[in-house]
Amino acid sequence: MAVRTNYLTVLAVLGLIPIVQVQGANCSSTVVISSQSDANDISSCNTIDGDVQIAENYANSLALTGITHITGSLVVNGTTNITSFTAPDLIIIEKNLELISCILLTDLNMTELTLVGDMNLEALPNLQRLYFDSGVRAAGGISITNTGLVKLDGLEITSASNGINITANTALTDISFNSLTNTSSLFIQANSNKLAVNLPNLVAVQNLTVTNTTSLSIPSLYHLTGQLQISSSRINNFSTGPLQAGTDIVFMDNALLSNISMPDLTSLSGDLIITGNSALKEINGFASLANVQGIIDVTGNYTEFTLPALQDVKGGFTATSQSDFDGCDIFNELRENNSIQGSYICSTPGGSATSSGSISTAGSTSISSIPPEITSTQPSGGGTPSLSTGAKAAIGVCIPVVIIVILALLFFWRRRRRRANEELPRSNDGQVHGEFTFKPELEGSPVTTRPSQKPELDARDNEVGRSSTLVPIELHNTPETSIH
Ligand SMILES: *[C@@H]1O[C@H](CO)[C@@H](O)[C@H](O)[C@H]1NC(C)=O
Ligand SMILES: *[C@@H]1O[C@H](CO)[C@@H](O)[C@H](O)[C@H]1NC(C)=O
Ligand SMILES: *[C@@H]1O[C@H](CO)[C@@H](O)[C@H](O)[C@H]1NC(C)=O
Ligand SMILES: *[C@@H]1O[C@H](CO)[C@@H](O)[C@H](O)[C@H]1NC(C)=O
Ligand SMILES: *[C@@H]1O[C@H](CO)[C@@H](O)[C@H](O)[C@H]1NC(C)=O
Ligand SMILES: *[C@@H]1O[C@H](CO)[C@@H](O)[C@H](O)[C@H]1NC(C)=O
Ligand SMILES: *[C@@H]1O[C@H](CO)[C@@H](O)[C@H](O)[C@H]1NC(C)=O
Ligand SMILES: *[C@@H]1O[C@H](CO)[C@@H](O)[C@H](O)[C@H]1NC(C)=O
Ligand SMILES: *[C@@H]1O[C@H](CO)[C@@H](O)[C@H](O)[C@H]1NC(C)=O
Ligand SMILES: *[C@@H]1O[C@H](CO)[C@@H](O)[C@H](O)[C@H]1NC(C)=O
Ligand SMILES: *[C@@H]1O[C@H](CO)[C@@H](O)[C@H](O)[C@H]1NC(C)=O
Ligand SMILES: *[C@@H]1O[C@H](CO)[C@@H](O)[C@H](O)[C@H]1NC(C)=O
Repeated sequence: MAVRTNYLTVLAVLGLIPIVQVQGANCSSTVVISSQSDANDISSCNTIDGDVQIAENYANSLALTGITHITGSLVVNGTTNITSFTAPDLIIIEKNLELISCILLTDLNMTELTLVGDMNLEALPNLQRLYFDSGVRAAGGISITNTGLVKLDGLEITSASNGINITANTALTDISFNSLTNTSSLFIQANSNKLAVNLPNLVAVQNLTVTNTTSLSIPSLYHLTGQLQISSSRINNFSTGPLQAGTDIVFMDNALLSNISMPDLTSLSGDLIITGNSALKEINGFASLANVQGIIDVTGNYTEFTLPALQDVKGGFTATSQSDFDGCDIFNELRENNSIQGSYICSTPGGSATSSGSISTAGSTSISSIPPEITSTQPSGGGTPSLSTGAKAAIGVCIPVVIIVILALLFFWRRRRRRANEELPRSNDGQVHGEFTFKPELEGSPVTTRPSQKPELDARDNEVGRSSTLVPIELHNTPETSIH
């Protein structure tokens, strides 16, 4: 190659360049460009039947004119000192466009480029914009990692069968693939925390993984054949449109996420995992989800979690909230009739919440009027505030509480007897509640040590406490909740 270059240089010096350009250029082999004149030598080729490589030691700017079609790849790899690269006539690169470790590259102008195989832009820290003015309309795959890009202009691809990976572009704040309808996988990870992602026409994707973004819009997504994972993002709310099925859905550590809405999602052949989203209080956006072949694992500080259409969970079920969550009943029922298979945990461990023990035991919606009464009796109980603060150290607190409660019980029992003597029917009603409200508190301390086992038993225990036999309560329980 070097020999040919020197030969052409000599010809150029002799003033024979025009002839050389027409007749001497070998357009049917791989070209290595070490200087601008190397590029000039092939400018008559129109089509290069092979690869075009830029030598590592190329410095400053390079214009590759005249070439419209490269049947192989265009590779600029490790050319640290190239500052700008323009290929104003290039329309097609059949194989790959590789631009790697061009540390000083600031300009990349390929204004006519329309078709590439795979595009790999990697380690281009000074490249801030792409000038693909005609719009790259077709690409097999796109990987853009560790660049200085702020926007991805001119990527008007409609499909990417080899996937799209956009990672570690720390200045990138906008990804809008307006034409993209179909891609195998789409990874958008660790770019700017201010990144907004708009995929208005994306219909089909295999795996879609998104981290560190402020928004994600995929209103048209219909075919999800793999995993949808949204993690470590600053997304406020997330919704899908017609999406009905997928493999896995994962929401993890999205600090600001407060609303998930996937109204048409009906089945997952894998898992539903929602964890570490501290602003997510109400999880009620899965109105149609009926079948989950894997597991459902939903943990956090939510107060509401409903899956109204759920019919079948093959892999197991975990729902634990550290907040006041009282929605286990319906899942308990699904567990009982074997709609939920595999392991099963539905619990509200109760963290520091004042009445979490009482509320979790009063979880059945049928006695939802009880919790206010419990709280109203707490001041007279005296021991309950200390229970609330020391709930985690319940065992240490247990003894004083029990003593206080026994004293209080004695006090109320005496009062009751006194009042009962005066006015039997009304006081009876009131006293039953009075007695009952103390029972959960008595059981409250053991309960806090229990949730790791079978929380749904707690609810039953309490109902037992209420009317002393197990069977009538179960009969009660079913019709009451089926109303809801
Ligand atoms: C161009 O280069 C290829 C590969 O080196 C060679 O086979 C071919 O003969 C050359 N064509 C011309 C016209 O020199
Ligand atoms: C880039 O330029 C610097 C300074 O001129 C030089 O030391 C270095 O070797 C060059 N890099 C390459 C890959 O040629
Ligand atoms: C780029 O260069 C590096 C180091 O020489 C090499 O390991 C890598 O395979 C090259 N990549 C491509 C796509 O040529
Ligand atoms: C690349 O294109 C932009 C916009 O057309 C222009 O401002 C810039 O000067 C061009 N760079 C080169 C090296 O041609
Ligand atoms: C995306 O690119 C990054 C950086 O090159 C790489 O570490 C990661 O494995 C790629 N991800 C996929 C799914 O190809
Ligand atoms: C997406 O593209 C793949 C391969 O190009 C194709 O097999 C598949 O049918 C497309 N899916 C949709 C929904 O268009
Ligand atoms: C999608 O993710 C699954 C599971 O992580 C993996 O097995 C599969 O290869 C991925 N597909 C693509 C196209 O990345
Ligand atoms: C992505 O977000 C996580 C969690 O907020 C953060 O720890 C990480 O540093 C972020 N990554 C980048 C590249 O900003
Ligand atoms: C999403 O959240 C933002 C900020 O909380 C809010 O302004 C916007 O209306 C929400 N959008 C939807 C569709 O709920
Ligand atoms: C959540 O988002 C859905 C769809 O955008 C919306 O209909 C619903 O009202 C939102 N819920 C809340 C609590 O904002
Ligand atoms: C839930 O709340 C507890 C106590 O306030 C806190 O320690 C924990 O980090 C929270 N968990 C999530 C996922 O926000
Ligand atoms: C299981 O119980 C749920 C809730 O009561 C009900 O919707 C569902 O139809 C039951 N399934 C079976 C197989 O009995």
